[in-house]
Amino acid sequence: MNRITPEIVRKAKGQGITALTAYDYPTARLLDEAGIEVLLVGDSMGMVVLGLRDTTEVTLEDILHHVRAVARGVQHALLVADLPIDTYRNPEEAVVNAKKLIFAGAHAVKLEGGTTRVEQIKAIADAGVPVMGHIGMLPQRIREEGGYRIKGKTPAESQLLVEDAKAVENAGAFAVVLELVARKVAHEITRSIQIPTIGIGSGAGCDGQILVFHDLVGYSPWFIPKHVQPEAMVGDAISKAASAFIARVKGGTGEK
Ligand code: KIV
Repeated sequence: MNRITPEIVRKAKGQGITALTAYDYPTARLLDEAGIEVLLVGDSMGMVVLGLRDTTEVTLEDILHHVRAVARGVQHALLVADLPIDTYRNPEEAVVNAKKLIFAGAHAVKLEGGTTRVEQIKAIADAGVPVMGHIGMLPQRIREEGGYRIKGKTPAESQLLVEDAKAVENAGAFAVVLELVARKVAHEITRSIQIPTIGIGSGAGCDGQILVFHDLVGYSPWFIPKHVQPEAMVGDAISKAASAFIARVKGGTGEK
């Protein structure tokens, strides 16, 4: 399999694009070898890896550190890196920081926001850096929003989301994440733009799906989001392995 490029992702509209987050070398390598097409070093890392309350304390340095690790494990997938909060407040800042992520090994960057982020998306794309949009529930705004909730439940909110999607497309993004968007609206957006939509908690009507890796494999069993059907319970396996090791050492049966 050849390397997957933003152009390949763009053309894969309607073909079930697969995307997962990855934050470290072994996970990236396993997911890449399994054939996942897009790996995202997302700022969800703040919560699932760093133990932070939300994504708003994740820094560019945090993301750069993990992009370097993930890049070492990726041969085929498209590696997308999140621009964390306050790293794209204006177009100039967005371009400088997007380039840092590319220099660290990312193939593309992602940022949150629709009509309000058009200038940043344009500037990044014009600088030759492929950019993915992210609309709907915006985790970087969680403290203003006060919680995670489905977006697009009212006609006014749906209209704003459609406008956001079109703005992101027109600004030059090659794909757009729809996070916690009402299923009907996600489907409508998917039909009304040419670039692929990649949904999370937004129903099956998107062109692809993305999940946080830890949610998919049950690595954070204390929190399983409503939209996730875990395919494994890695957290339980780790607890069992640790208990078995404790029993072995305390029982004096040696190191193996
Ligand atoms: O940071 C992240 O993991 C994300 C996904 C939820 C799309 O942005």
